[in-house]
Amino acid sequence: MKKPVNKLLVVALLSIAVVGFATFSQASISGSKHDFSQAGWSGGQICLPCHAPHDGVNVANAPLWNHELSTATYTLYSSPTLDAVPGQPGGASKLCLSCHDGTVAIDSFGGKTGNITLSGSVGTDLSDDHPISFVYDAALAVADGGLHDPTVRLSGIPGAAGTIDQDMLFSGSLECASCHDVHNANDTGGDLLIKSNEGSALCLTCHNS
Ligand code: HEC
Ligand code: HEC
Ligand code: HEC
Ligand code: HEC
Repeated sequence: MKKPVNKLLVVALLSIAVVGFATFSQASISGSKHDFSQAGWSGGQICLPCHAPHDGVNVANAPLWNHELSTATYTLYSSPTLDAVPGQPGGASKLCLSCHDGTVAIDSFGGKTGNITLSGSVGTDLSDDHPISFVYDAALAVADGGLHDPTVRLSGIPGAAGTIDQDMLFSGSLECASCHDVHNANDTGGDLLIKSNEGSALCLTCHNS
């Protein structure tokens, strides 16, 4: 009973993706580094390694998550000039780290335990990575002095017309997916960036110097 139902809803999810992303540009998850359909372990599926229509891993505020989560504790970014207070990765970032910290196999999804791990990626030491999982609001922009107000500044993401807060933040929080589009709607360079970083355009969306 479980399998045919899953397949049907995956088709439904797939058509949402086609309608939702195809208009942005020619790039898409198909053929990107997140298209695992050609990998032997995925069962030919694109969405299923990450999402399940039913019976997935229950993650608060996550889109129907189907991948086993990591239980790692991370070393966080810190610096004397940082005004924000990053916490242990939350929300959307935990989803990325469920593969990219290298402690959980990428093929551990849908209740199966896999054995292919992603080594040499982001890892559990985030101290050398852009800070994540903190609130980026108007007050932080004022305190820092070198940031745009995220509630006013437009994101400039192709196909989106909102502010940084609306298009890039997750309940006001900066996460991995503030800079990356896991579904690769806009990036052809292989880094799945949410918008081009040519001339540091991505960085200068939020930083004003
Ligand atoms: C490599 C993992 C991965 C794959 C593969 C993947 N997604 Fe996602 N998806 C995510 C993550 C992580 C989020 C939450 C972060 C975000 O919204 O950017 C998300 C968010 C979503 C959302 C809600 C937010 C939004 O962007 O609209 C939908 C709908 C969605 N995915 C559909 C799909 C469909 C359909 C497929 C297959 C064509 C797919 N995803 C493939 C990881 C993945
Ligand atoms: C199901 C496991 C899985 C999830 C979940 C996942 N990724 Fe990936 N990601 C991969 C794999 C596997 C690759 C390909 C690595 C390679 O080719 O060496 C990859 C590639 C990438 C790349 C391209 C650069 C590179 O290392 O090759 C980026 C950037 C990336 N992922 C970011 C993210 C972000 C951000 C999220 C969450 C929004 C996320 N990923 C969620 C498994 C995952
Ligand atoms: C502030 C923007 C930003 C945030 C936040 C961010 N990234 Fe990236 N990421 C980039 C850019 C830009 C690149 C392109 C290559 C480079 O400059 O290192 C990149 C490259 C990558 C790569 C490929 C190169 C590598 O180092 O392996 C992966 C994988 C990746 N990011 C995953 C993640 C994950 C997972 C998170 C959250 C823990 C995250 N990123 C958060 C901007 C960001
Ligand atoms: C979505 C918005 C956003 C994007 C895109 C972004 N940043 Fe940031 N960045 C921030 C915020 C907010 C902080 C926290 C600043 C603070 O609290 O001092 C930060 C912090 C930093 C810091 C640490 C500052 C310190 O005082 O330690 C550096 C360095 C940095 N960003 C560089 C970059 C670079 C380089 C890029 C492009 C690859 C980039 N950022 C893209 C929002 C962003």
